[in-house]
Amino acid sequence: MKESNPATEPIGQNLIKLISNLCFSVFVFSVLIITVIAITYQPPDPWLESAPALTKLFTESENATFKNDNSILKTGEDLLAPAVPPASEDRITEAVIEKSEANIINSTPPQLNCEDLERVNCSDPRALIAVERFNLRLFKSIVFLEYQTPVNGSKPDECDVLWRFRNKKEKSWRKYRDFRRFKLGFGVNCTYKVVHARGWHSGINARRPRRISNSTRGAKIAPSVRDEQINDTIPSLGSDMNFRKGKYLYYSRGGDYCKGMNQYQWSFLCGLGEAMYLNRTFVMDLSVCLAGSYTPSNKDEEGKDFRYYFDFEHLKESASIVEEVEFLRDWKKWDRSHKRKVPVKKVASHKITPMQLKKEKSTVIWRQFDGAEPENYWYRVCEGQAAKYVQRPWHALWKSKRLMNIVTEISGRMDWDFDAVHVVRGEKAQNKDLWPHLDYDTSPDMLLEKVKRMVQPWRNLYIATNEPFYNYFDKLRSQYKVHLLDDYKELWSNTSEWYNETRILNDGRPVEFDGYMRVEVDTEVLYRAKTRVETFYNLTGDCKDGINTC
Ligand SMILES: *[C@@H]1O[C@H](CO)[C@@H](O)[C@H](O)[C@H]1NC(C)=O
Ligand SMILES: *[C@@H]1O[C@H](CO)[C@@H](O)[C@H](O)[C@H]1NC(C)=O
Ligand SMILES: *[C@@H]1O[C@H](CO)[C@@H](O)[C@H](O)[C@H]1NC(C)=O
Ligand SMILES: *[C@@H]1O[C@H](CO)[C@@H](O)[C@H](O)[C@H]1NC(C)=O
Ligand SMILES: *[C@@H]1O[C@H](CO)[C@@H](O)[C@H](O)[C@H]1NC(C)=O
Ligand SMILES: *[C@@H]1O[C@H](CO)[C@@H](O)[C@H](O)[C@H]1NC(C)=O
Ligand SMILES: *[C@@H]1O[C@H](CO)[C@@H](O)[C@H](O)[C@H]1NC(C)=O
Ligand SMILES: *[C@@H]1O[C@H](CO)[C@@H](O)[C@H](O)[C@H]1NC(C)=O
Ligand SMILES: *[C@@H]1O[C@H](CO)[C@@H](O)[C@H](O)[C@H]1NC(C)=O
Ligand SMILES: *[C@@H]1O[C@H](CO)[C@@H](O)[C@H](O)[C@H]1NC(C)=O
Repeated sequence: MKESNPATEPIGQNLIKLISNLCFSVFVFSVLIITVIAITYQPPDPWLESAPALTKLFTESENATFKNDNSILKTGEDLLAPAVPPASEDRITEAVIEKSEANIINSTPPQLNCEDLERVNCSDPRALIAVERFNLRLFKSIVFLEYQTPVNGSKPDECDVLWRFRNKKEKSWRKYRDFRRFKLGFGVNCTYKVVHARGWHSGINARRPRRISNSTRGAKIAPSVRDEQINDTIPSLGSDMNFRKGKYLYYSRGGDYCKGMNQYQWSFLCGLGEAMYLNRTFVMDLSVCLAGSYTPSNKDEEGKDFRYYFDFEHLKESASIVEEVEFLRDWKKWDRSHKRKVPVKKVASHKITPMQLKKEKSTVIWRQFDGAEPENYWYRVCEGQAAKYVQRPWHALWKSKRLMNIVTEISGRMDWDFDAVHVVRGEKAQNKDLWPHLDYDTSPDMLLEKVKRMVQPWRNLYIATNEPFYNYFDKLRSQYKVHLLDDYKELWSNTSEWYNETRILNDGRPVEFDGYMRVEVDTEVLYRAKTRVETFYNLTGDCKDGINTC
């Protein structure tokens, strides 16, 4: 039985019909709009964007590396979740120490005789246990991995001890070593105790006589002591057949060459990501061009070795790569000695997507990047639809272990007990339009005033900065033990390990410690600080990417 008024019924029904039709049209229309947007949407081209929008775009995702701020450089070890330490890793913890202590007590007369212990015996396991406990208490940010049996120091009650460790703040889980000199005494119950410990790398007697290695790439300089944990020799393909069996992705140099190093990373990882997506070996040019903004001469400098900046050993382990010179030689050799040439697919434009190349069977896919800028940037390959398929393998790109040794040494000399302030100046401080207060907020007086509110007086204060004037921070010295990168010059001087090791990569010629290396070291020391004061957010109200971007 109908209760509604028959006269109004058609109107009501019509109305409902009308409304639902309208709703449906709106729905269809919006679906259409969204589809059109989805189809035509291309991530904006950074070089066509205004500077603030550009930097915003790239800073929103952590993968962004074009940040206008070239005083910091993030790589895989800073961006990603910590690598899982190998299962075989044995950390020396209190429990481990107790266990080895129990073993000693079981194997020796339980009642310790104090007369036995009147002299310090460095090879006595109980001496090592005292040192292990001491280190564990003192260095909370370090994971201790293995100790060598202590050896005599320079005096009868001194022992030199060497150990390997990892830094808990370093996500790459690389190992480093330290050796220190300890003065030992005896505590209650005739146990060993540490009376005094000297600083970073002080236990020189414990330093292992290191492997004298033949240099790589036929350099003709005298063999020297090296970090035996670095193996960044260039892998060779071996036989002809190995070459022919492989599948390669080869990128010719594009417009990225000699651009900033942030763009280098962004582009390189795009190429490597495409190679991984295509399940191919990436042909890699180890020769890098350093942009003028990082060189003392302010001119672009070619012929820098990738291995000065990045960890080639780790890259070899995480991705399939072949070095360009080796690759081209093997390719030529094959073509000369065989009737059938190596099949090559040449790709002229980035507009041919990685997805279109998925089925390609040729041995070599050769992307040529012949166009004009910005069409010839490597990273354009990973734009648009391709971004959904090609992942940049950030985990493959770590900083050079040789530079990390410097980082570890700087942090170690401060006993891992320091705070840091990151002071961005440079071009940004001069650009009053985009950063109106930055220059004032990072002026010496303001710095002191602001840092005082965040860092306790007389702490070790490391300043990571792109301010070139060394004495700029002198005001802070009235309250803090100030450390600047240039205080550690001897770590890359001509008497340093770094100098010796990089020279080997450069056919025996000395390598300059350039601006890009400085940025890498500054970044990593900054990340190891206990309290970290950032320019943006902590020192100034200006936005990181320019006015009105935050
Ligand atoms: C950015 O990096 C994260 C991991 O840090 C990754 O999951 C994501 O896919 C990356 N995005 C792009 C567009 O590369
Ligand atoms: C020192 O300790 C080691 C190991 O316990 C022992 O073999 C050695 O005889 C000791 N040396 C001295 C001089 O007591
Ligand atoms: C270490 O010093 C002790 C005396 O302090 C001495 O007996 C021992 O032989 C020394 N060991 C080495 C390896 O020189
Ligand atoms: C010394 O030994 C006694 C008895 O064995 C024990 O109760 C005490 O805790 C020990 N002291 C220390 C500091 O180890
Ligand atoms: C260095 O190379 C030469 C020949 O290439 C070899 O005879 C020598 O054993 C090598 N030395 C080391 C320490 O590897
Ligand atoms: C260094 O790594 C290469 C592989 O990239 C390997 O063939 C070589 O044996 C390694 N050398 C050493 C000394 O570990
Ligand atoms: C990648 O290539 C290798 C050899 O070229 C092949 O064994 C492997 O199955 C390929 N993997 C995928 C996922 O296509
Ligand atoms: C190192 O450099 C200094 C000056 O910078 C020079 O006097 C010295 O001879 C150099 N030493 C070596 C081993 O090259
Ligand atoms: C560097 O190499 C020279 C000889 O090539 C050697 O005398 C010096 O001890 C080495 N320096 C370091 C710190 O390894
Ligand atoms: C810096 O600013 C951030 C964001 O406001 C804050 O979380 C952090 O605690 C500040 N750092 C210091 C050292 O005060």
